[in-house]
Amino acid sequence: MKNILVTGGLGFIGSETVVCLIEEGYTPIIIDNLYNSKKAVLPRIKEITGVLPKFYENDVTDEDALRKIFKENKIDGVIHFAGYKAVGESVQKPLEYYSNNLISTLKLVKVMKEFGVKNLIFSSSATVYGLPKRVPVTEEDELNEATNPYGETKFMIERILGDISKADPSFNVALLRYFNPIGGHPSGLLGEDPNGIPNNLLPYISQVAIGKLDHLNIFGDDYDTPDGTGVRDYIHVVDLASGHVATLKKLETNPGLVIYNLGTGKGTSVLEMVKAYEKANNVKIPYEIKPRRAGDIAANYANVDKAKRELGWVAKYDIVQACLDAYNFQKKNPDGIK
Ligand code: WQD
Repeated sequence: MKNILVTGGLGFIGSETVVCLIEEGYTPIIIDNLYNSKKAVLPRIKEITGVLPKFYENDVTDEDALRKIFKENKIDGVIHFAGYKAVGESVQKPLEYYSNNLISTLKLVKVMKEFGVKNLIFSSSATVYGLPKRVPVTEEDELNEATNPYGETKFMIERILGDISKADPSFNVALLRYFNPIGGHPSGLLGEDPNGIPNNLLPYISQVAIGKLDHLNIFGDDYDTPDGTGVRDYIHVVDLASGHVATLKKLETNPGLVIYNLGTGKGTSVLEMVKAYEKANNVKIPYEIKPRRAGDIAANYANVDKAKRELGWVAKYDIVQACLDAYNFQKKNPDGIK
């Protein structure tokens, strides 16, 4: 497997994965509509790897654009990152989320089948576990109703791809359930670069750290967790990227449908993260305790034994390294990637 189409390949996780693919000898081809990413990421990928990947500025829901890409390139496999991903926004705009995330995937698979491309990695999410009955969660645990349309789209796409793989066992599908991706490339050239005020914890903390935001609001300290604040499994984005390369190797064994949690296996609370960030970067992160955020759950973190056993993959970096890389990226890009 050599030529890998990466949808959403200029995004936070996508661009890191493109770098990792190049470093592992693959040829990534990027399709991205720049809805939540920037074209300026492309020369940064070249600066890191020396390679300027082929880039198509198109929408994955555009079937003709997809056909053109598959015609012009002999695609061996696809990593599908492209999709709307903001939990809060999905509650306000369910129709946009369901149509964009589902239709893009359905059209992508349709064109893959037309060209006989049999290997797909889907970017799923820990949100498919909804409110987990127990933590850490394993891939065999029941999936509960997601607390938002974003999570529902991931759940539905998992079911759709599972049925497609059942009907055609030669179609290899890997569902990768990411926990909370954080950090950035050690060069400081790539990192989490949300538009506007960040929804996620780490980019928000990073903007407080450089003085762009005044203080962090901690959404609730009355959860049933050791210090009352929310517990999540924060995984360094470079580890997440390498998990995709390990998965491509697994798909070459024609496994049919496979599902993996990509996390560290450790839970970290908001307060623990704040302290780790302050210590790692020698900065002060002022915060105020605020009411809980709608849709949040107390705790979710991964059992990662299966990825270790079947992919030979484990997360190498801890949250301290991720805090260093997140801060380094933010300092070097105070107003985001230009
Ligand atoms: C983490 C913790 C908050 C911000 C979501 C999606 C997941 C993925 C990552 C898409 C929680 C607390 C946060 C803040 C806070 N999204 N928090 N103040 O909600 O676990 O996961 O984003 O790829 O699929 O579900 O991530 O970073 O928003 O929150 O106190 O300003 O930090 O309550 O406990 P979340 P998050």
